[in-house]
Amino acid sequence: MARIGTDIQVAQNHLEAGELVAIPTETVYGLAAHALNEDAVARIFEAKGRPRFDPLIVHTHHPNQFDQFAAAVPDTAHRLAEVFCPGPVTFILPKKSIIPDLVTSGHQTVGLRIPNHSLTLELLSALPFPLAAPSANPFGYVSPTTAQHVSDQLGNVVDYILDGGSCQVGLESTILAFQGEEVVVLRLGGLELEAIEDTLGKKVGRIQTSSSNPEAPGMLNSHYNPRKKLLLGEVEHLLMLYPKTRVGVISYQKTFHYPNIVHSEVLSPTGELREAASRLFAALRTLDRPDIDLVLCEPVPDEGLGKAINDRLKRAAAQ
Ligand code: TXA
Ligand code: MG
Repeated sequence: MARIGTDIQVAQNHLEAGELVAIPTETVYGLAAHALNEDAVARIFEAKGRPRFDPLIVHTHHPNQFDQFAAAVPDTAHRLAEVFCPGPVTFILPKKSIIPDLVTSGHQTVGLRIPNHSLTLELLSALPFPLAAPSANPFGYVSPTTAQHVSDQLGNVVDYILDGGSCQVGLESTILAFQGEEVVVLRLGGLELEAIEDTLGKKVGRIQTSSSNPEAPGMLNSHYNPRKKLLLGEVEHLLMLYPKTRVGVISYQKTFHYPNIVHSEVLSPTGELREAASRLFAALRTLDRPDIDLVLCEPVPDEGLGKAINDRLKRAAAQ
């Protein structure tokens, strides 16, 4: 099993040797490798069971590094990076040849991100190369938000787990692409669209992503599957449909009392979307247990982070 620890030097040694290290970020834990070393990158795909057509995000410690890896950075991207980096946002930009094709799955663009976590920023500053890192979960499963989640599922294939505590945001980064100076959202995530729109002073477009959309290759509809069947709707109504089934419930604020509820997770009793986001993935994992046959969950208010939470719930329900 991989060692779990907080030693940046140990993490650095493994990464320099082309090995895999799980890294904490504010969104979810990443499964990181030397982004400019193809053998190291290949190990990521193998460890996750991830198809080679699904490109990886490249992590660096400062937006002034974008020019090293991106052939052109639109002014809009610079402006957004100034306001939101480090933070839960990824910029899709035309790639320079220094980024191996394996990282971008042959696409001529690269995803660049500066994660907002002190340990990982320290690690990235110490390394002479950027880190390619997808979320540190087996392909198709819920993203990990603690070191223990990583250890539970990938402990035997990762060489070291850098423990940075629980992820503060708990949802993956918002992914932005650029068409000239226009911004398009490829994945809803930890940075609210409203915050981006306020900064730009205009609305941003969204591309509906799916497995058949080559612009956002990894956004498979059923991407956040717990292994249990999950239904999304009004919980009270769903409970009446399944009075005898052993259910787990994920609700936003309310606690439900029914005899067939084996376990409940209330995301935020006080109705704070930020809190709900940070608890969502751990809740999905907790309910993925043998004595529960069905998970029932309800959408949260569809605003701010709520849009990204509902997006993940819909994908988890699409099995
Ligand atoms: O918050 C995050 O973004 C986390 C942490 C670890 O940084 N990473 C993450 O990576 O969520 P992953 O691999 O699980 O999801 C990355 C998504 C995939 O859907 C992938 O298809 C998309 O980003 N992506 C990466 N590079 C891309 C590119 N060049 N063009 C379009 N989509 C890209
Ligand atoms: Mg992922």
